[in-house]
Amino acid sequence: KRSRDTREVRDYIRTIVDFPKEGILFRDVTTLFADARGFRMAVDQLLNPYAGEQIDKVVGLEARGFILGGAVAHQLSVGFVPIRKKGKLPGAVLSQAYELEYGEAVVEIHDDALNPGDRVLIVDDLLATGGTAAAGIALCERLGAEVIGCAFVIDLPELGGRKLLEEMGHEVFALTAFE
Ligand code: PRP
Ligand code: ADE
Repeated sequence: KRSRDTREVRDYIRTIVDFPKEGILFRDVTTLFADARGFRMAVDQLLNPYAGEQIDKVVGLEARGFILGGAVAHQLSVGFVPIRKKGKLPGAVLSQAYELEYGEAVVEIHDDALNPGDRVLIVDDLLATGGTAAAGIALCERLGAEVIGCAFVIDLPELGGRKLLEEMGHEVFALTAFE
């Protein structure tokens, strides 16, 4: 009998050195998503803290948050709402700018995608500076929704995202952290 597979979610994440530029250790979740056991573990574990909580919508952040968020929404039997980079959504949108290392970026949500009072779970693959997630939270709240949690596969705590979101009063959950 072969030994049991003891790999954890973090063991499926590949690190690419110097992508997209020198000095960056890129945490690549494609190897996690491509593995049936790894992907199921990640989706199941993302939901663990929210057992018994009412969730009305899952909001996913482009692009890797769509893959995870879609699976999470399906598991919960709730709807999925995308937050996209500027100019991608076809209907009327709310826009939110946020800071990047150089300059700024804009994310958008359809202005009718959430209802006031909706309890929302935000899902993405990775939390770095928290700028993307903070902008996503702001969009949900501008529509009157309540963000009950932000769930990530990876936290990069040195980049301060968890601290930022917690200081904004939000609960952060991540499956694993890399220094
Ligand atoms: C990555 C990641 C998060 C964001 C985290 O997405 O998937 O969405 O950066 O960074 P932050 O916490 O500093 O905001 P990216 O902007 O590379 O977009 P993509 O998923 O569309 O490639
Ligand atoms: N987004 C921001 N920093 C990242 C990193 N180190 N790996 C993957 N995605 C990222």
